[in-house]
Amino acid sequence: MQITGKQLRQKWLDFYTSHGHVDIGAVSLIGDGSTGVMFNVAGMQPLMPYLLGKPHPAGKRLCNVQGCMRTVDIDSVGDASHFTFFEMMGNWSLGDYFKKEKTAWTFELLTSVFGLDKNKLCTTVFEGNSSAPRDEETASLLIGLGIKPEHVFYLPKEDNWWELEGTVGTPCGPDNEWFYPIDAEKENPVFPDDYVEIGNDVYMQYKKTETGYEPLANKNVDTGFGFDRMLLFLNGLHDAYKTDLFTAVLAKLEELSGKKYDDGGEDQRAMRIIADHTRTTVMLIGDKVGVLPSNVGAGYILRRIMRRAIRWCRKLGVPSDAMLDVAKIYIHEVYNEAYPLLLEKEDYILAEMKKEADRFEATLAQGMKEFEKTVQGLNRKNEFMAKQNPAYVPETVIGGKAAFRLYDTYGFPLELTEELAAEGGLTVDKEGFEAAFKEHQEKSRALEKGQAKGGLESHSEMAVKYHTATHLLNAALKAVLSPDCNQKGSNITDERMRFDFNFERAMTPEEVKAVEDLVNEKIKADIPVVYKEMSLEEARKEHFVGVFDSKYGEVVKTYSIGDFSREMCGGPHVEHTGVLGHFHIVKEQSSSAGVRRIKAVLE
Ligand code: ALA
Repeated sequence: MQITGKQLRQKWLDFYTSHGHVDIGAVSLIGDGSTGVMFNVAGMQPLMPYLLGKPHPAGKRLCNVQGCMRTVDIDSVGDASHFTFFEMMGNWSLGDYFKKEKTAWTFELLTSVFGLDKNKLCTTVFEGNSSAPRDEETASLLIGLGIKPEHVFYLPKEDNWWELEGTVGTPCGPDNEWFYPIDAEKENPVFPDDYVEIGNDVYMQYKKTETGYEPLANKNVDTGFGFDRMLLFLNGLHDAYKTDLFTAVLAKLEELSGKKYDDGGEDQRAMRIIADHTRTTVMLIGDKVGVLPSNVGAGYILRRIMRRAIRWCRKLGVPSDAMLDVAKIYIHEVYNEAYPLLLEKEDYILAEMKKEADRFEATLAQGMKEFEKTVQGLNRKNEFMAKQNPAYVPETVIGGKAAFRLYDTYGFPLELTEELAAEGGLTVDKEGFEAAFKEHQEKSRALEKGQAKGGLESHSEMAVKYHTATHLLNAALKAVLSPDCNQKGSNITDERMRFDFNFERAMTPEEVKAVEDLVNEKIKADIPVVYKEMSLEEARKEHFVGVFDSKYGEVVKTYSIGDFSREMCGGPHVEHTGVLGHFHIVKEQSSSAGVRRIKAVLE
């Protein structure tokens, strides 16, 4: 059958609303924290309190199509079947109808609405154990409906018991799973080899405890059918990216890259990764609760996903802005009806995506070089050792310190370094990475507490912020007063900064305000601070300011903040200006003849 995503969604909801269910719509993708699961991994997750007995405001029969995320699949995305974001079509009975109605409705939906052949349907039920009995009731209902008796299989807990792994106090129970031949045309398909699971009805009548299971007061039904998979399967397709959800997206990526999806190989893999990861990015940033890229929790998962996609954009030969084009397709064409919030939040979504892309691109090329250097170092060592000792076993592990440097200096999530390593047949010393991470954290804490000994300069977080603020101030003074204003000195503590520069007279209050405003504007714009090493010659040509003095040596370190500020400087600096807060000039006064002094704070 030919069916579009929008039609499938509608058919599901129509069917269940016609049987007295209320469409409750999708809720946030983000877990509410009650189970410790970060994202919704199933449609039932947000309904947990109601499955446990709390009355639901919409009644006892509910249905929806719920966005879900399964992060275990991130690294598998790129093949023909994995996604990070997917939707689950669900319906629920909260202590209302049970097995008789549920088996009949699922059967009717699959055979009458979706036209599946009842002679080919296979189903599995729970074989029973000490916690719950063998589900003969469901089996006989299924056979009564017309499923061949030899197509009903009893399976153990590993297969036919549904619960949220790793949780306690959550509802669970035996399930009835539905299967259909992958290739609907195949003569005499054999179960399970020729079959694919299309969905399941869970008879949620137990609560998981520390030690086992206890019966719930309500006997509930929790049904979940994968939307994306069903769409694929009903249309007789075998590549999950061939459904109409991705048609326009892949066409866009083909147009931008000049490559063909159907040619397969790495370009096809890249298109899948960009398509999937951009969809997840849009759904996470545009979610009701919403996530932004960061270094912790759900924000880190998002960062990982975005940065992985950006790297694959490079591999495909398209700029990371391709993700914005793809995002617009999802927002306007694919999910506009089901997720109108995305349209409302479009500007925000695109702006946040762009910011993260800029942050990462500022260091990506540099980081890739660093990665290659590490691999070359490993290769050289292996060659050298092999010459010394023919029995030498080559090292294939990238050190934890190198991986941490890529993370800390170049913003490479560990998993990205691992992916890069795997492409070259290498692995990463994860434990070493964790150790380097911990050591770094301890050092920063010690520095912040002012406990650093042995002539180490204090690089507290605050001092680093002030340091970046001096660059912004330097550039603002040049812009507002005169390009001839140059820094003559500075002094930074955790509480304030002092900045000396050449200028012949006192600044007017308007000039002070204009400088302050300009700095704050650049802070608000959250511009990435980009580090680059270059020759002194190059730095001069590109108009970096600083002391052009032989003491810098041949190669100099430079930091630029957009087009606004370019300075030669040893750092360290913040990654992007947005973290500086509000800049306020407290005082402007004379320092010495022809030199003024500004005292300023970040609030
Ligand atoms: N909770 C069940 C599932 O996720 C329906 O498959």
